[in-house]
Amino acid sequence: MRTQIAIIGSGPSGLLLGQLLTGAGIDNVILDRVGKDYILGRVRAGVLEEGTVRLLDEARSAARLHAEGLPHNGFSLAFDGRDHRIDLYGLSGGKRVTVYGQTEVTRDLMEQREASDALTIYDAADVTPHDFDGHTPFVSYEKDGVVHRIDCDFIAGCDGFHGASRKALPKKAIRTFEKIYPFGWLGILVDVAPVNHELIYANHPRGFALCSMRSATRSRYYIQCSLDEKVEDWSDDRFWDELRCRLPTHHAEALKTAASFEKSIAPLRSFVAEPLRFGRLFLVGDAAHIVPPTGAKGLNLAASDVHYLFEGLREFYGDRSSAGIDAYSQKALARVWKAVRFSWWMTTMMHRFPDTGDFDQKIQEAELDYLTHSRAASTALAENYVGLPF
Ligand code: APR
Ligand code: PHB
Repeated sequence: MRTQIAIIGSGPSGLLLGQLLTGAGIDNVILDRVGKDYILGRVRAGVLEEGTVRLLDEARSAARLHAEGLPHNGFSLAFDGRDHRIDLYGLSGGKRVTVYGQTEVTRDLMEQREASDALTIYDAADVTPHDFDGHTPFVSYEKDGVVHRIDCDFIAGCDGFHGASRKALPKKAIRTFEKIYPFGWLGILVDVAPVNHELIYANHPRGFALCSMRSATRSRYYIQCSLDEKVEDWSDDRFWDELRCRLPTHHAEALKTAASFEKSIAPLRSFVAEPLRFGRLFLVGDAAHIVPPTGAKGLNLAASDVHYLFEGLREFYGDRSSAGIDAYSQKALARVWKAVRFSWWMTTMMHRFPDTGDFDQKIQEAELDYLTHSRAASTALAENYVGLPF
């Protein structure tokens, strides 16, 4: 088989890139090692920047997002028993974010792809990129006991943090930068009205908490926990009691609870690989970088990577110019590092670190005090949270 672009990974990055390429008449095949149901079973954050929404519009995959997504003009920081609202819309010159589950973004992209004649190969084992340092790259994979080969012009490694693409690179060709945080997030999904119409990020001596949502009837809550915590040790009642402790009293008293239907612990890390291009192979999205979920940047960074790569590939096939793909790594990384910085800063400001000394604690309190009393400081937070331009 031959295609123009072989895309490894059918998550948000691979599906969005595939949709945009198909719309531009550029032939592509997506391969994933698991099936659709497994991919749709993943629970992920869903705070979309306007740029991400625009790309989903361009991919003709945003109809349900516009119908069901929740536009948010602000969120609250809670500390010292009080709320401090960050007016995203007012501080960012009229920008907002849209709350819409990432699983739904993935579902919408999958449905649009199925409506096109673009090929997706699920349950593809041992997907391996080959000869990407030359001019005739190809991808091999195994399915139903048969080894297959797909010849292509380029390979997009959209296969996430644990994927095959980054692992296929020569060690000397890549530099990685990583920070592991000394805590995790214990999260639950529950079919009950959210405690607040906007998100609440709480900094409490017992630890961070986040009140989010998927819809007006489905809530998403998180509490910071130590990395040796086990999900099975956290009954719903224990979770609700701990969440109430970390919220201002009026929210704790208003909190509606119900039986959770999803409960998990996620570790937090910052990670960036450089560069993002190796000959005819490009790293995209989580294959290239990971951010702690505090700033809700994961999906949005995947979208901006896809934007830069798609524009480069469209230029390559349209104008026979390689300027766009040659600039991909530098352009994508410039935005990635600013989002990595913001996610690190928000995580450091909002969480309690095990080794925090008295001085560090006072600095964190001063940061929050400055942020909530300075228009300049809250403007900087707002412009990063709604998303820097791309
Ligand atoms: N071969 C084929 N497919 C693979 C392989 C492999 N060796 N390894 C991983 N994959 C697939 C996974 O099954 C998954 O469907 O690649 C896909 C990667 O998807 P994501 O991990 O969601 O990464 P990405 O598409 O870049 O999306 C980034 O999703 O993970 C969240 O927080 C992240 O919001 C961010 C966004
Ligand atoms: C979520 O709804 O899962 C969510 C929202 C905002 C974040 C992180 C997670 O910063």
